[in-house]
Amino acid sequence: MSQTALPEDDYIIGASQQEILRLGQQHAIWRERALAGWRRAGLKPGMTVLDIGCGPGHASFDLAQLVGPAGKVIAVDQSALFLEAVNAGAKQRGLTNIETVKSDLGQLVLPDDCVDMIWSRWVLSFLAHPQGLFERLQTALKPGGRFIAHEYGHYETFGFSPADPVQDRFIEAVKKSWRTFGGEPNIAKQLPALCRRVGWTTEFMTPHIFTTRPGEMVWEWPVGWLKSDGIDRLVELGFLSAEDAERFHTVVQERTADPDSVLTTPMVIEVIARRKNGG
Ligand SMILES: C[S@@+](CC[C@H](N)C(=O)[O-])C[C@H]1O[C@@H](n2cnc3c(N)ncnc32)[C@H](O)[C@@H]1O
Repeated sequence: MSQTALPEDDYIIGASQQEILRLGQQHAIWRERALAGWRRAGLKPGMTVLDIGCGPGHASFDLAQLVGPAGKVIAVDQSALFLEAVNAGAKQRGLTNIETVKSDLGQLVLPDDCVDMIWSRWVLSFLAHPQGLFERLQTALKPGGRFIAHEYGHYETFGFSPADPVQDRFIEAVKKSWRTFGGEPNIAKQLPALCRRVGWTTEFMTPHIFTTRPGEMVWEWPVGWLKSDGIDRLVELGFLSAEDAERFHTVVQERTADPDSVLTTPMVIEVIARRKNGG
């Protein structure tokens, strides 16, 4: 595969059945923090929430349950495979308040003042022109409505201790791959500026990071991804050498077998911003 071509509705990590399972495990790990964030952002029954880059809908299902039958979730993604999973999952759960929209966020247009809240998790890092999206989200969000993001803000905190030089090369390869496809791995730090330019006020920011040890639930989230696809996809796309991939697989195995090792996860930053009343 070349460094610049991805199928039209795919993204750098790859939309697949395996990715649906990985995103489910990831949501299970992050769910508590998402719930706390939504509470901070003032999520209430009856609200309409826009879930941008919803993936297979793990957060959309929770949001739909929380806003209840009087509320609604508009779940947007470019991947037909993921949206099928949202529709199937909603049916299985008996949820009738999720509307799926297949769209590239680069082109998404919504009616004025149609949502009370916008939820964005692990998607803005993959977009080439987030400013254009924010200009379109600004008109879709009702005056006084809130935007809440859990996006990567400092990917460089990802690493094992004891450290190995190959992990720094891996982090650089991840960042380069996302940038090559137009994204920005540490997008969260740009969010106050993106929000300010459309007239929204950033009300809250906080970092989210885990430290974890072998055998713990959280360990399996990043390590499972590294073992299954995270390393090898970078080789396939031409961002990491086969030697570095082999070395990093060995490091992952060694750290997992070492009860004294520690893993810190890539820093996510929660950002809550608000559209002015009458703004
Ligand atoms: C890492 S997943 C996160 C999914 C979900 N937000 C979650 O927290 O589980 C990134 C999602 O963004 C979607 N995506 C990436 N670029 C997109 C774009 N330009 N337009 C629409 N969706 C996009 C992918 O298809 C994928 O579902």
